[in-house]
Amino acid sequence: MDSTPRDTAPADPSDPAADHTGPPLRQLSLTQLRRRTSMKWRAYPEDVLPLWVAEMDVPQAEPVVRAVTDAMRLGDTGYPAGTPYAEALSRFARDRWGWDGLAVDRTAIVPDVMLGIVEMLKLVTGPGDAVVVNCPVYPPFYQFVRNMDRRVVEAPLDPDGRLDTAALTAAFTRATSGGRPAAYLLCSPHNPTGTLHTAAELTAVAALAHEHGVRVVVDEIHAPVVAGGSAFVPYLSVPGGSDGLSLMSASKAWNLAGLKAALAVAGDGAADDLARLPEEVGHGPSHIGIIAHTAALDDGRDWLDAVLAGLDRNRELLAGLLAEQLPGVRYRPGEATYLAWLDCRELGLGDDPAGVFLERGRVALNAGADFGTGGAGHVRLNLATSPAVITEAVRRMATAARATA
Ligand SMILES: Cc1ncc(COP(=O)(O)O)c(C=O)c1O
Repeated sequence: MDSTPRDTAPADPSDPAADHTGPPLRQLSLTQLRRRTSMKWRAYPEDVLPLWVAEMDVPQAEPVVRAVTDAMRLGDTGYPAGTPYAEALSRFARDRWGWDGLAVDRTAIVPDVMLGIVEMLKLVTGPGDAVVVNCPVYPPFYQFVRNMDRRVVEAPLDPDGRLDTAALTAAFTRATSGGRPAAYLLCSPHNPTGTLHTAAELTAVAALAHEHGVRVVVDEIHAPVVAGGSAFVPYLSVPGGSDGLSLMSASKAWNLAGLKAALAVAGDGAADDLARLPEEVGHGPSHIGIIAHTAALDDGRDWLDAVLAGLDRNRELLAGLLAEQLPGVRYRPGEATYLAWLDCRELGLGDDPAGVFLERGRVALNAGADFGTGGAGHVRLNLATSPAVITEAVRRMATAARATA
């Protein structure tokens, strides 16, 4: 087997080369990461370099560690009370996105974003109704929607990975045929392409949704993760967006998926819908999760900025490595998320290049076909890791591609 990046990755504290006071994405060595018990690090054998599921290879932000540790020491491990998470998100939205319209009394805590999406879709559609999605898109958008007995109608992104008004019009028309209620599950920013939708695009979406009587449910989980110089626009803030329902969480930006909590946020035109949310849904999130997410939003902003700067460098690094070693791969660095969507069709590896990279290169990426129509021949790579791991992953992918050609 090829030498592993263990040789080149930042080392652990027992290693003289340790960089555990440096930027978050460089602090953990592979030896440390392999001690983790979460999905990213346990789904594949030890010789596989995992750059798939959206977990980040960072130590936790110190303010979050402090808040959770204090709560544990105090035994503050009971049931959640009040609205601290929504208040923190409202402050974050005002400070980061210049949006002061996130009203705490139009929010509800939910266990996580995907379960929150299911609950929002239940509020605005019934069994057998359609839900429009922009393929290629985060695979659970298909699974969760189908499992709740809704039909998925695809509205493909355009070739630049942007929202396509013509495709949306066709999908909304299909979804509402026969006068049925329908919803549009918008991913903003978009997973897997990292597309950051503009205010103009979102305003056009809102107008189109109104015209067709389609309700918008928007997954904004990646909202804090934007490239330098880019600005996230909350859907509920655009003209016509106020009858939307949004799902937000600190879980992606601060790597808190293991500390379950998220928020459903209604615009003022959707407050009555959110008020119908069954009370028991709010019993799902964990009190410690809420403490962690609240601390992240209020006190973890410098840490987030350090991660975002590292991601900017990683996007550039990946683009350069691909140009040198895998010039057949098309990569358009996104303006948001820590995901890279790679078009590998020119490599001649067939519909499932992720299978080839895993078998022959021992690199785990997400298979593009799982993201719906337009995904075959693509892979999704998780950039929230060290430059050393990215460098080694591309080297292994290039070796695998050469061995297959
Ligand atoms: C777009 C999107 N939505 C939802 C989720 C999952 O969020 P949660 O764990 O809060 O359900 C992810 C995770 O990667 C995601 O990328």
